[in-house]
Amino acid sequence: MSVPPADPAHLLDLAVDVAQEAAALVAEGRSTAVTVDVKSSPVDVVTAVDRASEELITARLLGARPGDGLLGEEGAERTGTSGVRWIVDPIDGTVNFLYDLPAYAISIAAEVDGEVRAGVVLNVATGELFTATAGGGAEVSSPALAHPVRLTGSRPDSLEQTLVATGFGYRVEQRRAQGAVVARLLPRVRDIRRHGSAALDLCAAAAGRVDAYYELDLKPWDHAAGALVATEAGLVVTGLGGRPFAEPMAVAAAPSIAGPLLELLEELS
Ligand code: IPD
Ligand code: CA
Ligand code: CA
Ligand code: CA
Repeated sequence: MSVPPADPAHLLDLAVDVAQEAAALVAEGRSTAVTVDVKSSPVDVVTAVDRASEELITARLLGARPGDGLLGEEGAERTGTSGVRWIVDPIDGTVNFLYDLPAYAISIAAEVDGEVRAGVVLNVATGELFTATAGGGAEVSSPALAHPVRLTGSRPDSLEQTLVATGFGYRVEQRRAQGAVVARLLPRVRDIRRHGSAALDLCAAAAGRVDAYYELDLKPWDHAAGALVATEAGLVVTGLGGRPFAEPMAVAAAPSIAGPLLELLEELS
């Protein structure tokens, strides 16, 4: 059997097809969705639809590319031989999904030799599709748009004009610390948003719908695809104090305010 191509454009096409198939399954499951289990804490919930979505995505990706590796939030893990590894969040924003708040997404990223080269974030409720390939830019398409739109972030002039999105982990200690940082950040910026999906937060920053996003202790499936979208939209995508992205804080910020925001987050953390 011939080896399937591993260039970013091919990987992206496959990821988009699979994400659309998973989105149909997730949309179909919405009306009957209930919590089936809790994970790291009582507020860290999972539904049967999260698991079914991960199973579908895994079967389709590995069916098309049997030599690839894969890592998924709900337990899928496979070491491959091709150099390609998929990183999958089968529903990012499970709590929104449970409540029918229209901000939950399928997130699929493709790593080649350890670097994310293609990423897809598909908002199931709105049909908005965010895509990026390494070096190829980021764009959004949706049923409401005649053509895909290139993403280029925003350009706030100061921290006072910076709308910041963030999120919180599921463990109580984490939340206490994260809440304390937000309380001190709020008076220094335009406002704070908590959308409930890290993948969509990163895409919102890429689209200039917020000016920056930060969160502590994300997992690879939360950020792999969205961080590529933000990077390709021209944002500063990094950690604190010169550390790599998401170790342990993920920051994606408009270049015009990235310096002062990073300094402030460091002071408050
Ligand atoms: C969560 C969401 C949320 C973020 C949490 C994530 P899940 O993912 O992305 O916005 O604040 O840190 O764990 O559990 O809904 O896939
Ligand atoms: Ca989860
Ligand atoms: Ca997630
Ligand atoms: Ca999830």
